[in-house]
This record gives sequence, C-alpha cells and structure tokens, in this order.
Amino acid sequence: MKKTLQTLCLCLFMLALLTAGCGGGKDGKDKKELVVGTEPAFAPFEFQKENSKEYVGFDMDLIAAIAKRMGYEKCTIRGMGFDALIPALEAKNIDVAIAGMTITEERAKKVIFSKPYYKSGLAIVVHKDNNTVKEAADLKGKKIAVQIGTTGAMEAEKIEGAKITSFNTNGEACLEIKNKAVDAVIGDLPVEAYFLEQGGKEYAKIVGKTLTSEDYGIAVAKSNPALAKEVDKALDELKKNGEYDKLYRKWFGEMPKQ
Ligand code: ARG
Repeated sequence: MKKTLQTLCLCLFMLALLTAGCGGGKDGKDKKELVVGTEPAFAPFEFQKENSKEYVGFDMDLIAAIAKRMGYEKCTIRGMGFDALIPALEAKNIDVAIAGMTITEERAKKVIFSKPYYKSGLAIVVHKDNNTVKEAADLKGKKIAVQIGTTGAMEAEKIEGAKITSFNTNGEACLEIKNKAVDAVIGDLPVEAYFLEQGGKEYAKIVGKTLTSEDYGIAVAKSNPALAKEVDKALDELKKNGEYDKLYRKWFGEMPKQ
C-alpha cells in the first residue's frame, strides 16, 4: 500500500514537472495564438475588402509573417478604435498592436515599440477647389478634421486658432472635405495618397510639404519585453530574407530610397 502511494506521488510529481514546460502563457512557450489589435480602416495598411470580413493590408501581411516566424500557429486580428489599442495592450486583451502606429515618446512611456518598420509622415488634404490652403502656414484659424488619437490630431492641435473635429476613422474625416464641412484633413501621407488613388481625387487633393517624418512600430505591452524582443528578431529575419521587401512591393510598388 505504502509503495503504491509512493509511486502515485512520484507520478504526480513528474506530471507536474512535465506540464510546467508547456502552457506557460506569454513567456514565449505557448505559441498557439497571437492576438493582434488594429484599427482596420487605414488602407493600405489595414482594411476590409468590399463584401469581406477579412482584414488585409501591409500591416496584416507583415504581422502574419512575423507570427509565423515566431512559431505561432494562429494570428487573430481584433479590430477596435485607434485610441483603444494601447489600453487593450495594457489590459492584456491583445498581445501586439499593429496599426500604422507612429513611434512617439509619449506612447513609448506606455508600450514597448518594435524597431521601425515603415517610414511615414503627415500630409494636408483639402478640397480640390480649395485655392486658399496651399501649405501648413495657411491652416491658421481653419477648420481641420482628424482621426482621433493620431499624430495628425496632435499636429492639428499645434496650429494657431484651428477648429478641430475628431473622427473615428480617416475616411470619416475625409468625408468632411467632400461635404466642404472642413477646410482640411491632416493624416498619414501613404493613407491619404491611397485614398486619393481609390477615388478621393474626384474631390480632394494633397497640398504642401509633408509635415513630419514618422516611423511606424509594432507595440507590445510593457509587461512583455520577451515578446517585444521576439517581434524584433522576426522583423530582422524577414528583412534579411527578402520577405519584408516582397510585402513592401506588393502594397507600395517600390522600395523606399535608403
Ligand atoms: N500614424 C498615425 C498615428 O500613429 C495614425 C495611425 C492611425 N492608424 C489606424 N490604423 N487608424 O497616430
């Protein structure tokens, strides 16, 4: 009897040892599912194709490739408001956020950013009949639409006397130009350029110089530095093996000049 008890204890002990090796949550051992947050109305980085629920875009392809490289079986995308992404990371509702998110000092206090993966900047969009706003200096005292919580919104706030209205998506902000409800939109150049290309040029145009130089980064919770390191490692590998270039060409046509 004593012997059986001893064997049972030993068995239990060994089982405990075994299971300690798997599961393990976000310590890099459980590679089942990477949960990714984004604000999916930001073509060509993240958007839903017409009549489809699937999220597509440069960011979506990139994070899928990164997840695969890190050894995850599955990469699940969760759509939410842009300003909800950092709180979702902090609450551990998502593992990473990829959303054309600019690396800023302010945000870096709350999350860990990967190395930059895309060079961007802000553009001014106006109605095509607008001949008064030609550059940034002309925006003083004007009505400006922006996407909530973005660097475009922060830039607009610096403009003297500007009357700013915030929208949930860049598309909604741009609609205000169509309706001549605002004088300008400040938003990310590659997104505004894509919007013009996709039909926006019927009524809108980009004017002046690019206002800022910004780098997009993938955000990870401060509590998960191991995951942030893995993301960087995967990104480096994809840059080395040509997969990053392939995706860049797929979505933007040409590689940026170094
Ligand atoms: N790059 C800008 C920022 O970080 C705008 C990003 C908006 N992204 C989005 N998926 N809506 O503030």
